[in-house]
Amino acid sequence: MPVDVLLGLQWGDEGKGKIVDVFTPQYDVVARFQGGPNAGHTIEFKGNKHVLHLIPSGIFHGNSLCLIGSGVVIDPLILLREIEKLDTVGIDVLSRLRIARRANLILPTHRLLDAASEARKGENKIGSTLKGIGPTYQDKIGRSGLRVGDINLPDFKERYKEAKARHCALLNNYDYNYNLEAVEEGFFEAIESLKRFKWVDSCHFIHRALGMGMKVLAEGAQGTMLDIDFGSYPYVTSSNTVAAGACTGLGIAPREVGNVYGIFKAYCTRVGSGPFPTELFGEEGERLREAGHEFGATTGRPRRCGWLDLVALKFAIRINGVTDLIMTKADVLDYMDTIKVCTHYLLEGEEHKELPYELDAPIKPQFVEFPGWKTDLTEVRKRDQLPKPIMDYIKWLEEELATPITFLSVGPDREQTLEMT
Ligand code: GDP
Ligand code: IMO
Ligand code: MG
Repeated sequence: MPVDVLLGLQWGDEGKGKIVDVFTPQYDVVARFQGGPNAGHTIEFKGNKHVLHLIPSGIFHGNSLCLIGSGVVIDPLILLREIEKLDTVGIDVLSRLRIARRANLILPTHRLLDAASEARKGENKIGSTLKGIGPTYQDKIGRSGLRVGDINLPDFKERYKEAKARHCALLNNYDYNYNLEAVEEGFFEAIESLKRFKWVDSCHFIHRALGMGMKVLAEGAQGTMLDIDFGSYPYVTSSNTVAAGACTGLGIAPREVGNVYGIFKAYCTRVGSGPFPTELFGEEGERLREAGHEFGATTGRPRRCGWLDLVALKFAIRINGVTDLIMTKADVLDYMDTIKVCTHYLLEGEEHKELPYELDAPIKPQFVEFPGWKTDLTEVRKRDQLPKPIMDYIKWLEEELATPITFLSVGPDREQTLEMT
């Protein structure tokens, strides 16, 4: 039985959390494979809204096990808070969560380094979520990180002190004021509380599960355009958000990957800095942001909004080997008379259908227009109830992208999901 992968095809916040929750009843294990608490995955059902940062979005279905894989970076305090919150709504995380021993730990000083580095960059800042993601992955790649499995070592505290001293020396190079005691508060309590959970080797855990015929879903965080290698570098996150990241972040072989579900919004958003060729400014952008409630689930920042970009989307489909597309937030476009889609870029007079190296260049996106459907989609529950203009639009997209759109999301609730096949 292969591992299915579900991931974002744009700049994050495509609705991954919602769709993972909808899919979970068909899976036995849901596993996060990269990123950390920079993610904010929203799930809505029965009038309640939940936002998850580290815990896989399968946690609301009692029969599934949830794994935080070895490619994830974990902030023990944020994880603990998330577990406590879930406890208040009756979710027994202790019995259902597994944590990879190889996952790296975000230390309080990683968060300070993130903030100090962003402050120094000034106008050129990445717009990071300030969760310490970049510095933690830097330590991992630099072979000096601390991992979950290290917590039980007799010299864990010494190792922590060593890392802290190294980080403080770096912080001294920044003109940055900080209060270490305040950020350190609660860290060791949270570390202690991690010991209550079952730690696993994610590679063995997944293979044992597959051997028993269990179905595994790998849940991506962020989106393809934020990938460290293939995103809009340097305005990216510090992990591989693409499908290949599921292999390195869980310990599975490429040939063990089954379906790759690629999620995209019916338009585009981006939070933080960096190029965004189809961005809408002024009133148009503002209206779309309001209609889509586009404010960050992790930081509350307003998200930048723009038209759907097929140049970037085709690139994302290719690099991830997407087998099934899922379009979310179609309902947000209900109010529009005309819907625009970018089919190619013009750059210095030259036409680009493939993503160019330089996204920060004066790209002129070229659009085609479709008539809007001007119908409230949020009440639609079946494919054959969809108005003709959106069906025509979807058919055109499927042909253009050479990939079927197998699910359509028409609202934030679990129920507002249409099977398209
Ligand atoms: P994720 O990071 O990919 O899980 O996405 P986020 O949770 O950060 O952002 C997606 C936002 O859109 C959340 O507030 C969801 O509740 C909401 N959402 C998801 N799907 C839909 C949809 O089809 N329509 C509308 N209107 N909202 C949606
Ligand atoms: P989910 O999983 C949207 C963005 C940040 C910033 C850049 C680097 O909810 O889709 P980092 O903190 O990772 O160093 O920030 O990446 N970013 C996200 N944008 N959704 C996310 O996650 C994101 N995680 C990071 O805004 O531009
Ligand atoms: Mg999000």
